[in-house]
Amino acid sequence: MLEFLAEQGVSQSLVEEVRAFRRFYKVESEVADRVPVPYYRYYGKEIWEMAIAALLGGENLLLTGIKATGKNVLAENLTAVFGRPQWTTSFHINIDQSALIGTDTFTGGEVRFRPGSIYECAKYGGFGVLDEINMAKNEAMAVMYSALDYRRKIDVPGYQQIELHEATRFIGTMNYGYVGTKELNEAFASRFMVIDIPPMSEDKIMQILLGEFPNLTDESAAAFTGLFLDLQKKSLHSEISTKAIDFRGLLGAIRAVKRGLKPALAVKMGIAGKVFDEFEKELVQDVIDLRIPKNATAESIFKK
Ligand SMILES: Nc1ncnc2c1ncn2[C@@H]1O[C@H](COP(=O)(O)OP(=O)(O)O)[C@@H](O)[C@H]1O
Ligand SMILES: [Mg+2]
Repeated sequence: MLEFLAEQGVSQSLVEEVRAFRRFYKVESEVADRVPVPYYRYYGKEIWEMAIAALLGGENLLLTGIKATGKNVLAENLTAVFGRPQWTTSFHINIDQSALIGTDTFTGGEVRFRPGSIYECAKYGGFGVLDEINMAKNEAMAVMYSALDYRRKIDVPGYQQIELHEATRFIGTMNYGYVGTKELNEAFASRFMVIDIPPMSEDKIMQILLGEFPNLTDESAAAFTGLFLDLQKKSLHSEISTKAIDFRGLLGAIRAVKRGLKPALAVKMGIAGKVFDEFEKELVQDVIDLRIPKNATAESIFKK
């Protein structure tokens, strides 16, 4: 991973500091399997430099931006670069104090403390990914205030306070830019350094597609890239929701084509199928029809 940073053009001195961080903070063997080995790599030198500088300085990071811009990919990549165990909490569901800090449970006739994700991060110097943090209930956020500011402590009800391990950091992600997005409250936002992740550019999409499918022909790589850019643009202009802005779905579609499925059908399944409103589905299908010819065959999109 550190070599990859150098390839991306990340400044030598930052890379050296990360190396020193990794040498200094060891990972306990019982959580060693939580250090991620990312499948996708995040491309973008400036974003890398901002994120690394903030984390080295002991700050927590908030990654904001529209959907499918690689926020979770970046969060995982950062944890891997710093060589820390990771705990991810998705704030979609009803996350409360017991999931975050922990709770007492009865097992085998005795009371046992079952640690939550923030507690584990505190103990092992983990990186805590707070996924879609803006969806959290205020009371769940309040539980984390002392962990996220200079106090670096958590209150474990019924037990004592515990201090965060020096290597502990939190990385929040937040999708915005569409109807229904909740704003993050000010007290919470002030505890983070914020990086606004830019929408995917043509170059970046191409790079990711060709990285995953080196055999794509130039024309088909351009067609899939154009399709994603068209959809992203329509969503940014609020003509469609973000449901069709699904990069994973696009990759899944190309994978299905690789197995012989017709491109038009694969894209229907990977992208148009994610939209359930009839009117919106038609808009999305129109965009698809412009880029992916109905009669194109699976063989025609890969080099011989
Ligand atoms: N900069 C990037 N580098 C690598 N992959 C990316 C990048 N941006 C997006 N992706 C791809 O997009 C998909 C969605 O990324 P994700 O991190 O879940 O987005 P977000 O959290 O911003 O909605 C991933 O499966 C990955 O393949
Ligand atoms: Mg995400």
